[in-house]
Amino acid sequence: MPAIVIVGAQWGDEGKGKASDQLGAEVDYVVKFNGGNNAGHTVIVGEEKFALHLLPAGILSPGCTAVIGNGVVVDLNVLFEEIEELEGRGVDTSGLRISSNAHIIPSYNKKIDGANERLLGKRKIGTTGRGIGPTYADKMNRIGIRVQDLFDPSILRQKVEGALHQKNAQLASLDEDTFDVDVVTNELLAYADRVRPMLFNSSAELNRALDEGKTVVFEAGQAVMLDIDHGTYPYVTSSSTTAAGACTGSGVGPLRLDRVVGVAKAYITRVGEGPFPTELFDEAGERLRKVGGEYGTTTGRPRRCGWYDAVVARYAVRVNSLTDIVVTKLDVLTGIEQIPVCVAYEIDGARVEDMPENQSDMHHAKPIYEYLPGWSEGISDCQDFEDLPENAQAYILRLEELSGCRISSIGVGPERAQTIVRHRLLD
Ligand code: GDP
Ligand code: IMO
Ligand code: MG
Repeated sequence: MPAIVIVGAQWGDEGKGKASDQLGAEVDYVVKFNGGNNAGHTVIVGEEKFALHLLPAGILSPGCTAVIGNGVVVDLNVLFEEIEELEGRGVDTSGLRISSNAHIIPSYNKKIDGANERLLGKRKIGTTGRGIGPTYADKMNRIGIRVQDLFDPSILRQKVEGALHQKNAQLASLDEDTFDVDVVTNELLAYADRVRPMLFNSSAELNRALDEGKTVVFEAGQAVMLDIDHGTYPYVTSSSTTAAGACTGSGVGPLRLDRVVGVAKAYITRVGEGPFPTELFDEAGERLRKVGGEYGTTTGRPRRCGWYDAVVARYAVRVNSLTDIVVTKLDVLTGIEQIPVCVAYEIDGARVEDMPENQSDMHHAKPIYEYLPGWSEGISDCQDFEDLPENAQAYILRLEELSGCRISSIGVGPERAQTIVRHRLLD
């Protein structure tokens, strides 16, 4: 099973990092294909806890080549900080590769990110403030800076100058400090020698690897509901977070993908602004946040918590062509007597089974719940599906039915081994 995509099937933080790390030992390449250091993946390996942002989880698996694909936006400062931190903890990062077509997040775009949010006022997105949106906007606007530009100082300077014409005008109009072309150019050039040995033609190399029967995992940042096209626009991130993004973000064609795995929590969370039909504002939400440790890995913000939403799950299956779902954090639901699951929405008095296309409809959507009986026994040591309490098994089977895709593995704790495998993803 050579090419597998792992995507978020909700609003992010589903446990994609753990899912990817788990495959790591059997994988030749792990490719991050979208997003940047807005992502935050917590991965626990033995006694060690790692918080990855820019680097894919595969970096933790010896023998697996970690790749930053062309669809990623790279903050070079964060890249080397993360490398140094991992090296300091004994992780060998020498295999890390980076596409020369990946775009760089220049310092001015972090400033613009904050300024844009302030301008939006109460319509703000709640971004991570890492310069992600402005950098993707520059890419589309054809004023972006790419990794390959680091190796031609005069072209780099011209490109920075071109971008700063627009950026400085915007910043000056907001009474913000502006940027100097030489300072920015030299800041970027300072990284060139360290980046050079990592350069990688991701399309050519990954296609060759697949021809040779190697195993490649494509690891998404964010999730379907944050996708620039298919998410709850404008409350989204600025990249293609879905399976299609694995193709555009790496240079591998769609027919090469063998399996698409969506990761979903047994409930659901969201960070930042935007509609969220099953959001809880009572102590049930507080409980999920507390027991689930639902605080952002990147910004530390408390995550908004709610019940599992099968409308979102069905949508994730449709938009991504999911072949498998990995359900995580089932253990967090232990001890809840009746577990609500959203089976459809009520919008202006009508029952709606599918994700609404219209933004206002999504803002008005009320969840229609089905209540499933809970369980009280701890499940964190369960290794087989049959070890789970009957009601926990029934809960998973009902999610499977409602979501329209097989649930291949179930997380019962944050550690690598705390996973029940029903269907192997690499067969
Ligand atoms: P990602 O961004 O999708 O990789 O997810 P995050 O790392 O941001 O958030 C997922 C969190 O849940 C991390 O802290 C994981 O260690 C933790 N986690 C993953 N799977 C499980 C599970 O099955 N049970 C529990 N209790 N925690 C889990
Ligand atoms: P992982 O990969 C959850 C959210 C932000 C904000 C919106 C836009 O860990 O699942 P951006 O800075 O990307 O322009 O912010 O997207 N967001 C995430 N939420 N998990 C993430 O990544 C996220 N990355 C961005 O909170 O609402
Ligand atoms: Mg995360």
